[in-house]
Amino acid sequence: MQTQSIGILGTGAAVPAKVLTNADLAARVDTSPEWIHSRTGIRERRIVDEQTASSDLAVVAAERAIAAAGVAATEIGLVICATVTPDMLFPATACLVQHRIGARKAAAFDLSAGCSGFVYGLSCAVSMLQASLFRYALVIGVDTLSKITDVTDRTTCVLFADGAGAVVLGPTEAGRGFLAFELGADGAGGALIRQEAGGSRLPASYATVEARQHCIAMSGPEVFRFAAHILGASTQAALAKAQLNVDDMTLLIPHQANIRIIETAISRLELPPEKVYINLDRYGNTSSASIPIALDEVIRMGKIREGDLLVLTAFGAGLTWGSAVLRW
Ligand code: ACO
Repeated sequence: MQTQSIGILGTGAAVPAKVLTNADLAARVDTSPEWIHSRTGIRERRIVDEQTASSDLAVVAAERAIAAAGVAATEIGLVICATVTPDMLFPATACLVQHRIGARKAAAFDLSAGCSGFVYGLSCAVSMLQASLFRYALVIGVDTLSKITDVTDRTTCVLFADGAGAVVLGPTEAGRGFLAFELGADGAGGALIRQEAGGSRLPASYATVEARQHCIAMSGPEVFRFAAHILGASTQAALAKAQLNVDDMTLLIPHQANIRIIETAISRLELPPEKVYINLDRYGNTSSASIPIALDEVIRMGKIREGDLLVLTAFGAGLTWGSAVLRW
């Protein structure tokens, strides 16, 4: 029997209203708008206020995706929330969202794979739908990295931002939807991007807060080298699994971390720049939300036509990476 094809039925996104510009950051730490833009490609990013948590953004993105898909919240059987900034360690943010959107028949769990979390979440949901566990799934990528960013650390505070994106997955016709996934991890690089305190190794204490161990610590140049290699390599591996090649691709939607990382991948893949979607100049690095926010933008702009071949490719803390090949 042929496996049921699973595709994206609707997308949604939510970003905070507050804009933080490079000039705002230059007023706080020893940097300049020119340095930030030339080294990262970022001009501005969106940041939540003190009262807003990841679930608040996730609920808005999820409701938009559900409306676009034209399914009822009660028809959704699974909610996966990819995040490294849950509202709290438990209960899962996915459960908070499940309750608030009224998806009362859905199983719900969080998934932690850094900025690759959304692609990991897609692969889990597609597999579970293909195994006939559920008919519809909601996959959310949400992060509010501003909540765990050290505002005094110029090497990280210029990069990270907040946002949420969501998709509803369900059955589609043969030949369309997800064609292949490629996922990987290298735990040896785990220390390169980490939030040390607040878990069972180093529970939160006055001392950990004082030492800013509840904030992101990152070895930027090492992460850069890994990312510049893996984006292209993972894209090619996923295409090969689908028995396709780079020329077949209509659009690459990469994780939006740094324009120089994306440019390295573009040149290794020998891609024309118009085949790559970039919005990090406006949103910065929104972690697991960056790909679904970009996907929602291209869909709503009418850039994607039936039959187009998309590749979503990500890397992140873990270290992790993942790519998805998708026929629209
Ligand atoms: N303003 C001015 N100078 C700065 C700044 C800044 N904001 N940040 C660093 N510098 C300085 C450094 O201190 C260093 O100075 P030194 O030579 O006197 O020591 C110099 O600039 C060069 O530093 P590098 O770290 O080599 O700069 P680089 O060009 O590599 O850019 C950056 C740094 C932007 C962090 C880059 O390494 C990068 O983007 N790395 C990947 C990060 C990433 O993608 N992380 C996301 C992972 S996904 C996830 O799971 C969240």
